[in-house]
Amino acid sequence: MTLFGLLGLILGVTVLGVLIYWQLIIAEGAYLGTWVVTLLYDWSASRYNAIKEFNDFDEDVSLGWPLTTRLLDQPESTIVDIATGTGRLAHVMARQKAFQGKIIGVDRSARMLAIAQKDAVDFKARFSLVQADAMALPFADSSAPVVTCLEALEFLPNPDIGLAELVRVLQPADISDRSRGWLLTTNRIGWEARLLPGKTWTREQLRVRLKQLQLTQINIHIWQDIYDLAWGQKVVTEVTSSEEAAQK
Ligand SMILES: C[S@@+](CC[C@H](N)C(=O)[O-])C[C@H]1O[C@@H](n2cnc3c(N)ncnc32)[C@H](O)[C@@H]1O
Repeated sequence: MTLFGLLGLILGVTVLGVLIYWQLIIAEGAYLGTWVVTLLYDWSASRYNAIKEFNDFDEDVSLGWPLTTRLLDQPESTIVDIATGTGRLAHVMARQKAFQGKIIGVDRSARMLAIAQKDAVDFKARFSLVQADAMALPFADSSAPVVTCLEALEFLPNPDIGLAELVRVLQPADISDRSRGWLLTTNRIGWEARLLPGKTWTREQLRVRLKQLQLTQINIHIWQDIYDLAWGQKVVTEVTSSEEAAQK
């Protein structure tokens, strides 16, 4: 082989390695199809909790307390956690004494769900699991009092449509019950977000998108080095008597 041939080979292998690293490690298969994402999570399910090293106190402060506070008037509310993985949010909420509600975890990966099921020893009766795709949730419109989706939108084929799907199933709050209608989700930030074109929003873009989806009480703030946490609330839109008359 000539020197140029060898250099070409080294360059080719390097470019291929970078591409594979980008697509499989950073994007976690997000551009290759939902089945690739699911396959990768099925493969890594047994290592997921060890890789993430969740810290109970940090999780309580950033997720558990804010959610519980918003649900104080309805402590028996149901939270639907989309892309629940190994049941991270269920563990957080099971530790919150003031929350006595149920959690329904939804995920596409059977192995992530199996670990979620196995680890939910202390709160099995309050935790149910559904294997389903976040892009087409098996829930009726406006049926879930609270919807959460952590660290997952960027892995969906179309995060914009995925976000709309979360809001579709969310039950709106009304004057009699302000503890419903909460959405809690995440948006990838930092340098890795730049390697996920079309899969993330800037903070302003996300704010606009949540407003377009008719959410109020929007609050987006930094959560971890690589994620923002985004809150919003779906509220029944009041139909004025003149609008009612116009609809008749
Ligand atoms: C980084 S994990 C986050 C898990 C959990 N929410 C957490 O914060 O630990 C991403 C999860 O999204 C799930 N997921 C990815 N694409 C999905 C889809 N289209 N429908 C349902 N779940 C999906 C994966 O199986 C995985 O469990």
